[in-house]
This record gives sequence, C-alpha cells and structure tokens, in this order.
Amino acid sequence: MKTVQDYIRTIPDFPHEGILFRDVTTLFADPEGFRMAVDQLAQPFAGQGIDKVVGLEARGFILGGAVARQIGAGFVPVRKAGKLPGAVIAQDYTLEYGATTVELHEDAFQPGETILLVDDLLATGGTAEAGIRLVERLGGRIVGCAFVVDLPDLGGNARLRALGFDVRALCA
Ligand code: PRP
Ligand code: ADE
Repeated sequence: MKTVQDYIRTIPDFPHEGILFRDVTTLFADPEGFRMAVDQLAQPFAGQGIDKVVGLEARGFILGGAVARQIGAGFVPVRKAGKLPGAVIAQDYTLEYGATTVELHEDAFQPGETILLVDDLLATGGTAEAGIRLVERLGGRIVGCAFVVDLPDLGGNARLRALGFDVRALCA
C-alpha cells in the first residue's frame, strides 16, 4: 500500500540552485493520496472542538480548507502581504530562500478561539512561526501545527517544539 510520502516528488535546484524542492502537487492530484493526507492531518485533531483552521499561503490553503471541512472548523487564510482586502495585522519573517511578510485579517477570529495551523511543509519554521505570532497577537489559542512534510535538518520542528507547540507531520 502506498504512503503519503510515495506521492511527493523532489525537484532539485528549484526555485534556486541547491534547494531540493518537495513538490506536493503530485500528492494533491491523486484522489487516494490527497484523501490519505487530509485524513491523517485531521485525525489527531478531530472531535476537539477546534474553532478555526489557519492555512498558510499557498499550499496550506488547499490542505487547510479540506482539514477544516473534515473537523467541522472554519478556515482562515494567512496571506502574503497586500492580498487581503480588510484591515490586517502583518508579520515579517525569513525563510529557506528569502524574506517576506504575511498578513491576517484583524477580525479573523475572536480572542480565545482554538486554532489548528496547517501547511504543506515545515523547513526553517519561519513561515509557521510568523503565522503563530499573527494568531497569538489576535488572542487565538493554537492547539497544534500540522504539516505533510517535515524537513527536521532545517530546524523548524525543534524551533516550534521549543516554543511549546504540538507539531505533527506525515513524513520527512
Ligand atoms: C513553502 C512552504 C511553507 C514554507 C516552509 O512556502 O509551503 O509555507 O515554504 O518554509 P519555512 O519553514 O522555512 O518557513 P513558500 O514560501 O515557497 O510559499 P508558497 O507556498 O506561496 O509557494
Ligand atoms: N519551502 C521551504 N523549503 C522547501 C522545500 N525544500 N521544498 C518545498 N517547499 C519549501
């Protein structure tokens, strides 16, 4: 039987020389692979009464929306700067190959709501930590951070665990 990992391909030197890019489009394109990934991401958090799934642009939207539907939560996007139409809060961060800013609608949820953070991949943890900071600035309570791929050598897993978060990943 195939695993989630079997559906993910690695493309060398994208988007820059030296980066081994984990391409999850092949996972998303396969009905069985996609179902397996969404089921496995949702399973530890089902039945916990989570209010919102926060998905990180861009592949976290595809996974996060499906996970939210599965666990009966709402979905909230964290977007790259300049994309959200309402009033936002912003957070700068650095990632494996660059620096950027992400934003969250300031009325995306109420203080005290419980949040599951979802993205396709955890590398340095810069993107996830920026999302976490945005959620916490609005008073959200993060109950977990769920990823399809973890690249532990890049330090993100240890970084989020050191901050006290429950980090789940389906494969390395
Ligand atoms: C990728 C990935 C994560 C992030 C992980 O997104 O989808 O969001 O990098 O890296 P980090 O742990 O080092 O922060 P990318 O920045 O390529 O953006 P995209 O999904 O919009 O293409
Ligand atoms: N984001 C940061 N590093 C990545 C990688 N190696 N593959 C896919 N997305 C990434």
